[in-house]
Amino acid sequence: AEGTLGVITAATLKLFPRPRTLETSFCALRDPEAAIELLARLREATGDAVTTFELIPRLALDLVLRHIPGCSDPLGERHAWYALVELSTARHDPALRALLEQVLGDAHAAGLVPDAAFAESGPQRDMFWRIRERIPESQNLEGPSLKHDVSVPVSRLPQFLREATALVASIAPGVRIVSYGHAGDGNLHFNASPPEGGDLTEFRSHEAALKRAVHDLAAKLAGSFSAEHGIGRLKVGELERYEDPHALEVMRAIKGALDPRGIMNPGKLLR
Ligand code: LAC
Ligand code: ZN
Repeated sequence: AEGTLGVITAATLKLFPRPRTLETSFCALRDPEAAIELLARLREATGDAVTTFELIPRLALDLVLRHIPGCSDPLGERHAWYALVELSTARHDPALRALLEQVLGDAHAAGLVPDAAFAESGPQRDMFWRIRERIPESQNLEGPSLKHDVSVPVSRLPQFLREATALVASIAPGVRIVSYGHAGDGNLHFNASPPEGGDLTEFRSHEAALKRAVHDLAAKLAGSFSAEHGIGRLKVGELERYEDPHALEVMRAIKGALDPRGIMNPGKLLR
């Protein structure tokens, strides 16, 4: 059982129509502030047809190009940041592409989006997605990494990135930051890779200090040290540190009521 409170014995699925129209763009961004502004513009213009908004830094694209076959840079020049953007609707909507072009064109004119590529075919869309989805794998192929799965309010992502990057530079100079993820949800994978050719033992020795700095910053910005990957065993101590003690007490009481012998996923979530 994955659950800490019980075993799932049945599930009912509510089905939604499969998207009929998909428009996908791999766009360059001036900086993370531009990402937030572009996301707002897209949502406003499309009535919330934005179903993907993934932030990708240049280093992540470089790692994918280095380690994953069958990927190429969708844009001609290098840029510091990118977003994988997808609009989708359940109906056949030939106007969706023009809408995406309009928003990206306006954002280009405003200096937010220096360049953008549109998926002109299924295989091209697949490649844009492959670049995003295989970042974790390519970071692992690059060497050991120290990973953080944090969230902050979407509007504070740029501040988080600025401050967290400065903190990492002060704790572990030269360490490479690979911070990508689900910007539309305020969820970032703020990961570190060793300096190129750097000493791995020294790199690993920074684990605790980096974790504390990154998680404290997420908490300071009204975010969380745990976004989409849960608490498990690894973050039990972090939950005790950052969670409201009263909330923890309620969680323990519910756990005790449903699982008095502590046999459901022992050691996970709560000690
Ligand atoms: C991802 C996984 C790490 O976003 O959550 O690729
Ligand atoms: Zn993720």
